[in-house]
Amino acid sequence: MADGETRKAEADGSVGTATESLTVTDNRTGRTYELPIVDGTVRAMDLRQIKASDDDFGLMSYDPAYMNTASCRSSITFIDGDTGVLEYRGYPIEQLAERSTYLEVAYLLIHGELPTRDELDRWTHEITHHTYVHENVKVFMQGFRHDAHPMGMLLGTVGALSTFYPAAKAIQSPEERHMAAVRLIAKMPTIAAFSYRHNLGLPYIYPDNDLSYPGNFLSMLYKMTEVKYEPDPRLERALDVLWILHADHEQNCSTSAVRGVGSSEVDPYSAVAAGVAALYGPLHGGANEAVLRMLERIGSKENVPDFIKGVKNREERLMGFGHRVYKNYDPRAKIIKRHAEEVFEVTGVNPKLEIALELEKYALEDEYFVERKLYPNVDFYSGLIYEAMNLPKDMFTVMFAIPRTSGWMAQWLEMVQDSETKIARPRQVYTGERGRDYVPIDRR
Ligand code: SDX
Repeated sequence: MADGETRKAEADGSVGTATESLTVTDNRTGRTYELPIVDGTVRAMDLRQIKASDDDFGLMSYDPAYMNTASCRSSITFIDGDTGVLEYRGYPIEQLAERSTYLEVAYLLIHGELPTRDELDRWTHEITHHTYVHENVKVFMQGFRHDAHPMGMLLGTVGALSTFYPAAKAIQSPEERHMAAVRLIAKMPTIAAFSYRHNLGLPYIYPDNDLSYPGNFLSMLYKMTEVKYEPDPRLERALDVLWILHADHEQNCSTSAVRGVGSSEVDPYSAVAAGVAALYGPLHGGANEAVLRMLERIGSKENVPDFIKGVKNREERLMGFGHRVYKNYDPRAKIIKRHAEEVFEVTGVNPKLEIALELEKYALEDEYFVERKLYPNVDFYSGLIYEAMNLPKDMFTVMFAIPRTSGWMAQWLEMVQDSETKIARPRQVYTGERGRDYVPIDRR
């Protein structure tokens, strides 16, 4: 190709049309290239044609942690991090939290539309009648240590579900895909509650089909000798709202894990188990547990200034603050904070709330946090509610995994049916040695 000639990369018409473009000049060769801009992105593969010589592999993009890389096209969740907007299928999270239920939101995420009355009744009936797990799952769970972390039990058990539903490997079957979504959404609360009861050495409580989705979960957690557990409707509603807020959040770490693992065409139970594993981490879903441990270590609101000093000296991390996308207040944190007051009417105010409010006040006024745009995220207040409901801290992330299952499944379903999906296999920048000869051990 003659120097200075502009080479126009073909925009893949199948995913939107290029109306604008970048013209880049490779100063190594003087060549210029025109890269199509589609939906505010340039295709990384369009860089490959930029070579320093004919036998050059071509340029790649380098983006550890994918700070500035779109991994897919999705129509499920929209976030505007600068203005603190979160919408599921175009519906603002504030309206859904106020007027919807978790099961209705799960339907919306998976099917793309709010259900009619009949559709919701059918969906609720399906979920309600798949809450049982195979009796062998109980036997499997009894093998865990008495003090096994519930997220570890959830991770292992969700993965094991793939062995109970081998037909789920047929991921091209709409029926199998639908049943996997129903089974996972239905069984997550059961497995979560079983792990809680396992830690306490209490008998597992079976699902009660007369109760609502959150009410049944409360029953499986707390039912003792009473014939029928009667959940407090205020706690049922608080759980429903918390689960609506946690249902999906576009391409977060755990959803990316589900998509990445799912791209190998493994069954959805195994892909969701990968999501559980990613969510377990303290920088992600494990943050709600870490927030309460942080508040405990602070001990009183008088100690907040010293703790904040420790954060600014990088000796501490302010768990429940900051976000990769939100550079404003996480809209979910606002709603949770408002609902905390309603829960505390039932459970009594959690004394750590005072420390949390003091932490928030300090952080929102301090230049260190303001310049880094660090605001409370979804995990900052949720743990206070779970603790007020007498849940142990190591159950908090399980409370995140239950609702995020509908988001993971919606994203997995979208990925499996996306014509652009290929097995996820990034490249690397190799920094190691080359061409070394083997040295016998007695000469090393
Ligand atoms: C969730 O992605 C999602 O959508 C996740 C989630 C979802 O619904 O799926 O929203 C759920 O995981 C919420 C996040 C929960 N995690 C925490 O609360 C843990 C504490 N927060 C962080 O560790 C951090 O803010 C992250 C992990 C959430 C985001 O990290 P980034 O985007 O990689 O930002 P960064 O670490 O590069 O931080 C930028 C700067 C750094 O300062 P400098 O080194 O540039 O001086 O901000 C600082 C960081 O040190 N910083 C913090 C901080 N978070 C960032 N400093 C103190 N405390 C913090 N919490």
